[in-house]
Amino acid sequence: MDKIITIDGPAGAGKSTVSRIVAKELDFLYLDTGAMYRAVALQAKMQDLDFSDGDGLKEMCGRLDLRFVSDGDVPRIFNGEEDISLVIRSPEMDMLASRVSAVKEVREAMTGFQRRIGAKRGLVAEGRDMGTVVFPDADKKFFVTASVEVRAERRYQERAYRGEPILKEEVLAELKKRDEQDSNRSIAPLHPASDALILDTSFLSIDEVVKAILISTRGYLEDGENAESPQF
Ligand code: DC
Repeated sequence: MDKIITIDGPAGAGKSTVSRIVAKELDFLYLDTGAMYRAVALQAKMQDLDFSDGDGLKEMCGRLDLRFVSDGDVPRIFNGEEDISLVIRSPEMDMLASRVSAVKEVREAMTGFQRRIGAKRGLVAEGRDMGTVVFPDADKKFFVTASVEVRAERRYQERAYRGEPILKEEVLAELKKRDEQDSNRSIAPLHPASDALILDTSFLSIDEVVKAILISTRGYLEDGENAESPQF
């Protein structure tokens, strides 16, 4: 198995941007597992499936044909021929993905899928349970977090930039609800792995977080493999 770096943390902590850059720098594959749960939520909604119907959701997951395409800065996700990258990013999908991700059958299906991808090549896997459940033997584990107020402010700015009519208080309330759901579910709840390096990004720039992760990872890869000196 190739090297695996896990980056977990709550919504809005900056994981996606950081994980993408780190993957690019290391020439590893970037795996956005949140997008997978969002794709499940979208398909379940389209099929009008009840979230308490574990068997129905399991069957649906088995028929998903998810593909990541990274030919630009932001990777896109397809289900079959359909580009679902944008439609899965709505506030509605934020909440539905969080709910559907608590279903045992869905988690089992996605965990299997994620491990198969991880068996292929070097990977930066981003999500909630990458270091705790999916890749417990990962080479390096990070938990990227920030205060809920800072995360809400970042989310609000992103949405305001896209021209979405949204109130800051709504964004904050949604994030708190999602934190609560993701952290308190019985299967694979959000929490740092005991061997993860915790990075509070409340007062750090993206560059600073990326640098911290790269220094730590390259140090590890070097020691383990006698690699060349890192270039910073
Ligand atoms: O990272 P994100 O906001 O795109 O994730 C959407 C939801 O998916 C999140 O609220 C919880 C769920 N999720 C999960 O349960 N496990 C993961 N590894 C990734 C995401």
